[in-house]
Amino acid sequence: MQSPHGVGIEAISVCVPRYWLPLTALAEANGVEPAKYAVGLGVEGMAVTHPNEDAVTMAVEASDALLKRYDIDRHSIGLLVVGSETGVDAAKPIAAYVHGLLGLPFACRTLDTKHACYSATAALALARDWCAGSGRGRKALIIATDIARYEVGSAGEPTQGAGAVAMLVGDHPSVFVFEPYREAFFARHVMDFWRPHYRSTAIVDGPASVESYLAALESTYADFERHSGLGWDDFEYLLFHVPFPKMACKAFKLLYEREVARRNGSGMTQALGEAFESRTVPSLWPNRAMGNLYSGSLYASLAGLLERGDGSVEGARAGLFSYGSGCCGEFFSGRVGPDAAAWRGKIDIAGQIKRRTRLDYTGYISFREQSARLAEEGSHTGGAVPGGHFGRVAFLGIKDHQRVYESSPRPAVSDTPFLPAYNASAHTGK
Ligand code: COA
Repeated sequence: MQSPHGVGIEAISVCVPRYWLPLTALAEANGVEPAKYAVGLGVEGMAVTHPNEDAVTMAVEASDALLKRYDIDRHSIGLLVVGSETGVDAAKPIAAYVHGLLGLPFACRTLDTKHACYSATAALALARDWCAGSGRGRKALIIATDIARYEVGSAGEPTQGAGAVAMLVGDHPSVFVFEPYREAFFARHVMDFWRPHYRSTAIVDGPASVESYLAALESTYADFERHSGLGWDDFEYLLFHVPFPKMACKAFKLLYEREVARRNGSGMTQALGEAFESRTVPSLWPNRAMGNLYSGSLYASLAGLLERGDGSVEGARAGLFSYGSGCCGEFFSGRVGPDAAAWRGKIDIAGQIKRRTRLDYTGYISFREQSARLAEEGSHTGGAVPGGHFGRVAFLGIKDHQRVYESSPRPAVSDTPFLPAYNASAHTGK
């Protein structure tokens, strides 16, 4: 039976990596005018992962914070889906590592979803249907976790970043309520962005990806409008996948101009810039500071809107556009929960950004090189890289073809007996 409260997000949390590089330092190293990155792309900084951070550790950090800050009983979780482009194994999902490291119950379905930056939206759709149907009141933990990495010196390099967003989906959504059946899809086989198994960096045809993104937006928005009966005036906020903030600007402009054309050029109450400022800019600050989170970009914006939003955010309707290269796009909508107490003070993106350590260009390159070495078989020789164990869990390298994670404290619930099978020596917790 459908819950009277609807289905949606009950809790949201973001992991911001501990290090960052100002884009001015990257511009200087690449011999590029800093305004190209700051204004042309709209990025101020990018999150840089420490060698002991990977897609698994960020997923665990985001989820651990979520469980603690929202006081969630982990035994209520019956579905764990991780959306990611940054898989750590061709067969074993990130979700399996996260399940063990968080100590989630055995009665839990675990899997990863993949479609570049769209993956977490696919995971949310799965969770939404499960919670509305066979979930029987249990919760779904959905995590978007990625490291956006391109070649050094490439056009994509200033649009790197990293981070994870954890969302608890259930039938008592106080953070964000999905509007039922108002969603629209677009898929087309296109080689705009991909990452072969043998590479740690993505290959991208930038202009093709921008074009494909906008084509998917135009198609899904039109479809959404047609089937939902909702239109431009119904949205207080419009949130987009944000590979770089200027892309959100291009996306917004497309929808605005489409609406102007629909009204034969008259009847818009706000100019383009003003409309963008009120409907989209309030959500973009995490993206400007962290860069591209791939699967988590859209949801970092949602978290950003909630964290900084004043009273007017409560109950507001937002339209969300998700895009994954390759490609798949989706437009859907929802309403922010009616009571900000449900999330206010619990997300802490700004606090994490403030506590970050700034790298210089040499430090950024050094982290990249050390990360590449730790991804090799036999790289695990001991503890963390200096400065590396700062959170709940650290990736220590690979031994006997198994990834080694050090967890502190050790997972406490019934799953613990299985942990030594993949990670015996590394657990040092209580
Ligand atoms: N001051 C201000 N703006 C400047 C500038 C300067 N000195 N120099 C250039 N710019 C502007 C350009 O006019 C352009 O703006 P526009 O897009 O509004 O026309 C913008 O900066 C980017 O310049 P461009 O020459 O197109 O950049 P690029 O060739 O280096 O590539 C991307 C930009 C986004 C295509 C590239 O970073 C990329 O491939 N990123 C990864 C893929 C991606 O994120 N795709 C998005 C869809 S998922």
